[in-house]
Amino acid sequence: MAGPIRPTSTEMNLKNHWERAYSTKPAERLGWYKPHLQTSLTWIKELGLRMDAPILDVGGGASTLVDDLLVEGYQSITVLDISEKALSSVRARLGERAELITWLEGDITSVDLPARHYELWHDRAVFHFLTEPEQQRQYRDQLLRALKPGGHFIIATFAPQAPPRCSGLPVQRYSLEQLESTLGKEFELMRNHKELHITPGGVEQMYLYCQYRLRPDNTMEPAR
Ligand SMILES: C[S@@+](CC[C@H](N)C(=O)[O-])C[C@H]1O[C@@H](n2cnc3c(N)ncnc32)[C@H](O)[C@@H]1O
Repeated sequence: MAGPIRPTSTEMNLKNHWERAYSTKPAERLGWYKPHLQTSLTWIKELGLRMDAPILDVGGGASTLVDDLLVEGYQSITVLDISEKALSSVRARLGERAELITWLEGDITSVDLPARHYELWHDRAVFHFLTEPEQQRQYRDQLLRALKPGGHFIIATFAPQAPPRCSGLPVQRYSLEQLESTLGKEFELMRNHKELHITPGGVEQMYLYCQYRLRPDNTMEPAR
C-alpha cells in the first residue's frame, strides 16, 4: 500500500470543520444523530454476510452502528472518518471492544484503501457533502476500487425535499435518478426508500436510502 497522501488545503479546511463540529456539542445533539441506524442495521443483517466479511463504515462519525455491528457478531469492521475527534469518542465509548475495530482517519476522496477488499461499504450522510463533480468522481473511483465485485453498497443521502445545507455545509441532494446516474451502471439497485430524520433541534431532513450491488462482472479498477 502506498504511503499517506498529504492533505490539500481544502481537505484541511474540511477536516477543521468536522473537528469543530465534534468539539462543540455532544454527539447526541448533532443534527444527524440517531440513537441507532436502524435501517442500515436491518439491511446489513438481511444481506446475510459471513461474520468475518470486511465492512467499511465511511464517515461513521460518532454513530452507534459500529456498536450494533459488534453486538451482532461482525468481526471485520473498519470505521473511517476525517475527524480524529469523532473516532476517538467512539473508541472511548467502546472501551476494550475498540481493539476489535480498524480505525482509519482520512478523507474518503483520497485515503488509501485496499483494492477489492470490502464486502460492504456503508455511508450515511457523507457522500452528499461532495458537491463538486470531481469529488464525486473520486468517491466513485474509491468505491469501485475498494469494493469486491459482487459487494454491497448502502448509502443514505439527502433527498430533494431535504434542506440545502447540513452541518453548516452545502450538500448535493439526490433523487433516485440523479444518484443512479452519478454512481453509474456498475451498480445494480437492490432496494431504496425515503426516510424522514428529525434533528435534535426539530428540523426535518428527508433521506434517500439505497442498497446497491457492485455487478460481479465488474473488472474496472480505476487508476489512482
Ligand atoms: C453528517 S455526519 C454522519 C455521521 C454518521 N455516518 C451518522 O450517520 O451518524 C458526516 C460524517 O462524515 C465525516 N466526513 C465528512 N466528510 C468526509 C470525508 N470527505 N471523508 C471522510 N469522512 C468525512 C464527518 O466527520 C462526519 O463524521
